[in-house]
Amino acid sequence: MVESYKNKIIIVGCGPGLKAYISPKALYTIKKADILVGSRRLLKLFPGVDAEKILLEKNYRVLVKKIADWRFTKQVVILVSGDPCFFSYAKMIVKKMGRESCTIIPGISSIQLAFAAVGESWDDACFMSLHGRNNEYEKLVGRVREYGKVGILTDHKNTPAVIARQILKSGILERRMFICENLSLPEERISETDLVSAVNVKTSGSAVVIIKKY
Ligand SMILES: C[S@@+](CC[C@H](N)C(=O)[O-])C[C@H]1O[C@@H](n2cnc3c(N)ncnc32)[C@H](O)[C@@H]1O
Repeated sequence: MVESYKNKIIIVGCGPGLKAYISPKALYTIKKADILVGSRRLLKLFPGVDAEKILLEKNYRVLVKKIADWRFTKQVVILVSGDPCFFSYAKMIVKKMGRESCTIIPGISSIQLAFAAVGESWDDACFMSLHGRNNEYEKLVGRVREYGKVGILTDHKNTPAVIARQILKSGILERRMFICENLSLPEERISETDLVSAVNVKTSGSAVVIIKKY
């Protein structure tokens, strides 16, 4: 166990998908792990790492209790997609374990990559996630009305087309939509459209949407 990480759980940001986006510090920490916890996709990124690999699925509440014990004898590293401090289960882990028991190594967020892909700054943007959320359309419309740029995490239910439909329903028309699918992966696709056309856009895989005022 690296001395500075003694008794700590390390939460590592693994970036948007492509391994090249993972920082050297994150890779070093992953290589030193005794136990690696993560989704199937993230665990698969590290076939050569000689750690016990534990799949994180819907079992996370039970798992977090086990991790709380393991951390005193083993180096536990939890893999998170993108950046741990941006809409991830790191929030829940830190809340349950306490800030002093966790170390977070940042990663490149899908939202950073999306803004880079379309050449827009994100220092003047507002962000929200519709990933796994129900009926947050009022909040969505409020954000779009208030901010010139909104970065949104989507999912298979709250797709870019559904988002466009909800914004149009509120009477807002004058916005561009950037759709950033499967960022950094071989199936990456970046497109720009108006809201009316976006209603018919079919997407697949993970996507980030940026809504921008004309
Ligand atoms: C649970 S959130 C995790 C966000 C993550 N912590 C981050 O910083 O990117 C998952 C959502 O992130 C977005 N996402 C993650 N990876 C992506 C990728 N490679 N391309 C496009 N969107 C991605 C999608 O909106 C997906 O539904």
